[in-house]
Amino acid sequence: MDLRTTYLGLELEHPLVASASPLTERLDGFLRLEDGGAAAIVMHSLFEEQILEEEAALDHYLHYGHESYAEALSYFPRAHEYRLTPERHLDLLARAKERVSVPIIASLNGVSRGGWVEYARLLEEAGADALELNLYYIPTDPALSGAEVEAMYLDTIQAVVESVRIPVAVKVGHAFTAFAHFAKRVEATGAKALVLFNRFYQSDFDLETLSVVPTLSLSQPYESLLRIHWIALLFGRVDLELALTGGVHSGKEAVKGLMAGAQVVMMTSAVLQRGPGHFCAVLSELKAFMEEKGYESVQEMRGVMSYQKVAEPAAFERANYLKVLASCCPLP
Ligand SMILES: Cc1cc2nc3c(=O)[nH]c(=O)nc-3n(C[C@H](O)[C@H](O)[C@H](O)COP(=O)(O)O)c2cc1C
Repeated sequence: MDLRTTYLGLELEHPLVASASPLTERLDGFLRLEDGGAAAIVMHSLFEEQILEEEAALDHYLHYGHESYAEALSYFPRAHEYRLTPERHLDLLARAKERVSVPIIASLNGVSRGGWVEYARLLEEAGADALELNLYYIPTDPALSGAEVEAMYLDTIQAVVESVRIPVAVKVGHAFTAFAHFAKRVEATGAKALVLFNRFYQSDFDLETLSVVPTLSLSQPYESLLRIHWIALLFGRVDLELALTGGVHSGKEAVKGLMAGAQVVMMTSAVLQRGPGHFCAVLSELKAFMEEKGYESVQEMRGVMSYQKVAEPAAFERANYLKVLASCCPLP
């Protein structure tokens, strides 16, 4: 059985990849992920805010997206404990590259085009095999149109793609009016992959103190469905590799992601809950499924459940919507 796959020009043993997480904030986390069976590792992000804290460009960004800033920081629940300076981040990447044999994908996380983009090149120099650019932004300003937000994203992607030679993947949330069109424009920047999707980290209110409480709950398997659906819709329609992140906890979600058309399937929450060895467990489930259904390679499976052969996906979606509503059980 051939589990090998390529992603961002890299040869991987299989399609299960570790997405960015606090596990890669220390060298031993990389080693544990490799031992646990991850075929490639996305390093935790280097944030625009980390790089540009003092600079005017950040004021501009904060002005337009102060909530996004708070959300981005929610990736750092124990920020004071493990937040690295950009220099130490680069140093950790270089040391991890010396010790780990699976590919390492660096992650740069920001939104506005500015001097921080320079770090893409520094991550490449530190040894990154590829780069993931995470654009997380909640447009809260009623004066800001979708077209302007997309232009801002594309501008930043273009700047990063032009500053490195390694392949670039783009990780975004799902809240776009016309995601397929946006994906096509990402393709035109020269990026090689789309990572679907960032989770929307929703804050809660504390009703006693009337304060906003940032919460970070780990994902649930049902969250994979939104991603799988979009991967199935985009597969074969854009010239980008599609990576699934969000809600993959078992072989079932991994299989569905690949059948929808994912090039690779990523995990963080399940690994934080069960430990890095969970990669091996999910891989065994993937192999068992392939054996049972007679698939000889991942390539053979990829996209068989996509919308590639559906002539009018929008009409198909509309029909599905009607069927779903009609399928509801009768009232008691
Ligand atoms: C504690 C924690 C830290 C994370 N840090 C990052 C990060 O630095 N950069 C990033 O792009 N994603 C980060 N993520 C998001 C994950 O990479 C992943 O996309 C998300 O958790 C959905 O996948 P999952 O359902 O497998 O957890 C983080 C997630 C968690 C839970």
